[in-house]
Amino acid sequence: MRLLENNIQSYDFYIEKENMHDEIAKGLAAPVKTISSKFLYDHRGSELFEMITELEEYYPTRTERSIFNDKIQEITLAVGDVQTLIEYGSGSSNKIKALLHHFTSLKEYVPIDISRDFLFQSSLELAMQFPHITIKAVCGDYTAPLTLPLEPSGKKVIFFPGSTIGNFEPVDVRNFLMKSAQLLDEGDGFLIGVDTKKDLHTLESAYDDKKGVTAAFNLNLLTRMNRELGANFNEEQFEHLAYYNVEKGRIEMHLESQCDQQVIIGEHEFSFREGETIHTENSYKYSIDEFQTMALECGFRPSKVWTDVEEKFSVHYLEK
Ligand code: AVJ
Repeated sequence: MRLLENNIQSYDFYIEKENMHDEIAKGLAAPVKTISSKFLYDHRGSELFEMITELEEYYPTRTERSIFNDKIQEITLAVGDVQTLIEYGSGSSNKIKALLHHFTSLKEYVPIDISRDFLFQSSLELAMQFPHITIKAVCGDYTAPLTLPLEPSGKKVIFFPGSTIGNFEPVDVRNFLMKSAQLLDEGDGFLIGVDTKKDLHTLESAYDDKKGVTAAFNLNLLTRMNRELGANFNEEQFEHLAYYNVEKGRIEMHLESQCDQQVIIGEHEFSFREGETIHTENSYKYSIDEFQTMALECGFRPSKVWTDVEEKFSVHYLEK
């Protein structure tokens, strides 16, 4: 533990376990080629994602922000006398800044993220901005078991905005909710942003924008593998593909090979047929009912939900 400001503590639990090369090689050797969406977020990928959140077509970020704005009174009421706020994947802690002023009973804020630089930088800023709140910055993977340095008593609320939950497979969502419930006591809460099911056009254009920013975000994965793994992908020979899979209730992103080709990554060679794809991301969408039912089955009482008028996005407050 290292003290930076008076009201900031940092904890480092992060171990880079898997090696990127092995994990990717395994995914590309499978009959259906897949690479985990976590690899989309190198430095450039994170920059491109930031740009995505500002696109006309990409409604989730803007809509969630408007819900937090418009419904702040009700949200404040729901979280009640929260003392400890834990954020999963806090990144640059942008979203929490607008809320912290309203949670007047808050004693500690515990941001968790694997991106050490972002985490410590933003924690330092928050510590200065909110001198009465203790910031306990945890560098770690919130999907792995973590022993968090929390106050022994007082109301706890987990904050998980941005519909990041959409990247999880439904079975993993359930496990994740059950694990989270274990961290909480009766009466504690979970405040989570979830993207909703809606018309095909709105969904698909959000992941295939006119300016091609999402395409660049997806294709950047190839550039990253070339640079970090010594691969020889030709970015011109792959195309960004994004479509809604109605049956599975998810947007799928793929990189589609434009010809028959071989690609070398280190000592491995991979063959691509024309039209064959690498599946790079799933973004699941849940109707309000669907998500509430799932939460109920995983140890939570779905106590409140807020949406915009068009129900493009939802913010759920679940109570243990
Ligand atoms: C960060 C997972 C919420 O699924 O909408 C945006 C990622 N991918 N455009 C999403 C993403 C392509 C985003 N999440």
